[in-house]
Amino acid sequence: MAVPPEIEERVGDLRAEIDEHNRRYHVDDDPTISDAEYDALVRELRDLETEFPELITPDSPTQRVGAPVSTQFSEIRHRVPMMSLDNAFTFDELLDWGRRLERRLGSEGEAVGYVCELKIDGFAISLTYENGKYVRAATRGDGRVGEDMTANVGTIEAVPKKLAGKKAPSLLEVRGEVFMPIAAFEALNKRQADAGDRLFANPRNSAAGSVRQKDPSITASRELAMWTYQLGAVENGPSFKTHTETLDWMRGLGLPVNPEIRQLATLDEVYEYCRHWQEQRHDLPYEIDGVVIKVDDLRLRDELGATSHAPRWAIAYKFPPEERTTKLKEIMVSIGRTGKATPFAVLEPVFVGGSTVQMATLHNQDQVNAKDVRPGDTVIVRKAGDVIPEVVKPVLAERPKGLRAWKFPTKCPVCGGPLVRLEGESDTFCTNVDCPGQRWARICHFTSRGAMDIEGLGERTVSQFLEHNLIHDPGDIYSLDWDGVRALEGFGEISITNLQKSIEASKQRPLANLLVGLGIRHAGGTVSRLLAQAFGDLDALMAASEEEIAAVDGIGSIIARSVHEFFANPRNLEVIEKLRAAGLNFTGPERSTLPQTLAGLSIVVTGTLEGFSRDIIEETIKAHGGKAPGSVSKKTTAVVVGEGPGAAKLTKAQELGVPILDEEQFVKLLETGDLP
Ligand code: IVH
Repeated sequence: MAVPPEIEERVGDLRAEIDEHNRRYHVDDDPTISDAEYDALVRELRDLETEFPELITPDSPTQRVGAPVSTQFSEIRHRVPMMSLDNAFTFDELLDWGRRLERRLGSEGEAVGYVCELKIDGFAISLTYENGKYVRAATRGDGRVGEDMTANVGTIEAVPKKLAGKKAPSLLEVRGEVFMPIAAFEALNKRQADAGDRLFANPRNSAAGSVRQKDPSITASRELAMWTYQLGAVENGPSFKTHTETLDWMRGLGLPVNPEIRQLATLDEVYEYCRHWQEQRHDLPYEIDGVVIKVDDLRLRDELGATSHAPRWAIAYKFPPEERTTKLKEIMVSIGRTGKATPFAVLEPVFVGGSTVQMATLHNQDQVNAKDVRPGDTVIVRKAGDVIPEVVKPVLAERPKGLRAWKFPTKCPVCGGPLVRLEGESDTFCTNVDCPGQRWARICHFTSRGAMDIEGLGERTVSQFLEHNLIHDPGDIYSLDWDGVRALEGFGEISITNLQKSIEASKQRPLANLLVGLGIRHAGGTVSRLLAQAFGDLDALMAASEEEIAAVDGIGSIIARSVHEFFANPRNLEVIEKLRAAGLNFTGPERSTLPQTLAGLSIVVTGTLEGFSRDIIEETIKAHGGKAPGSVSKKTTAVVVGEGPGAAKLTKAQELGVPILDEEQFVKLLETGDLP
């Protein structure tokens, strides 16, 4: 059967979306969807690929393990690849796996013998020991090649620098999970909040973020721990019959092996272990997101072998998203940048999935109706350790008498204009393009981190500026009436100068960021990068036909139509012309028409700058023709130093006599290309 075009398009969209989330999770440590939502995307893609195998490509996320290797750290090749695990999301799936395996081994009815381990919610690391001495640590990377984290992981107390005992093998690769205990995570986030820094979403992200530091002294300050659970390559070591023996040997070498690991004979016992830890997971001082079940007998493991990405002898049973009950105080409606009206629940604060939740999305009118949640209800709230919590359903037994059903408002809560829902659509929209709610959301989106990243122009300031008619659309940010700003509460000369600096710096953002900022429907980070790469500058993209846009690899017809329609709308063109007049960069780094002031120069940045986020600074250097490597060497032209610089980079720069610039000097260098 020929593949229907909508399936092909969906597969392309799913791949782009999954790649984007992989990058956010593994490289940025900043995920925007829950694990459950991510798993659902991968599942949908896998199902489509099973149905239409001709669509499978070697670079499909289903064919790869984990994250691409980032260019920030040097590479380490694993001697034995670091595989991932297949997942079971229900007990039925888990038992099916076990029964299949027992059938395959011809031991139906007989006990295969398993080892059950807690699935630590951390960051996979491979340690290497040579003759008992710690010599290397690497991330999983793409499974074959990981990133060098030797110095950073070496700061973790639980990682022995020398193995115990006299008979250490000449080479030992051992795999495990680096994690941050919950108490350390909470203390770290408190410190981050006190310093006005970004909070980590959960202990997993903070562990990953703490390991992936260029400066080991930051890792050292983060109270990380590690459990090891698997061997990689071993040379001149003892041979083992079972995984249990391996773990005992590892313990004897002084490696940290989790005390809750159990050797269990039957699937019934495995089920009991999983059920127990699903209930008791919060009794542990660290986070787990499931149980890993492994066949104990190493000969049977060899017999079972592996698929392209995971062994057949192990499976991860993933706990379902966590649920708690709380009181639903109120249902409100928020207006997004496209005018979409999204109902959300205001809740009595409740601790679920690793953080306190006070609001949860209700998605749309149909969802509220279907769930029949009412203000005053006790509701079940679900959160999967991460970002967007959800109201599952009301607890009807606890509904107070006479509670009235909630009705979707007919008027926009911000501008009072009509809320419209078109036939056959699930979403409701405020159709007034002048609605201050929409304007606010559009401008906040434009200034946000993934877009133009204008520090100091957050949600509250945007509201203030809108209220005082200082801005109406993102284009106005660049011609602000500064006397008007001065007259507002809370704006002293220092905050004005800082804001001016970050607005000025934002003019240099690469085209992909500008495209994200414009808020074109369906054009998030991945799509914007593809468009920026393909067209090179905004004018070329604006002049392109729908077909030309659709011809770009990775862009489907729905996205192409949306992009084309965006540039046909005179209101959008008005904003774009304001941005052009303000001198914003309309080109991508690949075909930059910005002055190539940094051509031939190599600039290393350390610490936080006021006008540039970490994501943006490298792009800016490249867009001006320079190189932005992650470490200081003899070839480095200058080191730019912001708040909280890495000690290693600074020392190296001083040792090598590399000029050190502050932010102001760097901005001058960008403009003129001359070192001060
Ligand atoms: S064994 C070939 N055991 O979960 C087997 N993995 O979703 C390799 N994980 O990549 C993994 N706790 O990062 C194993 N007790 C445990 C684990 C564990 C956490 C992580 C690990 C793995 C991922 C798979």
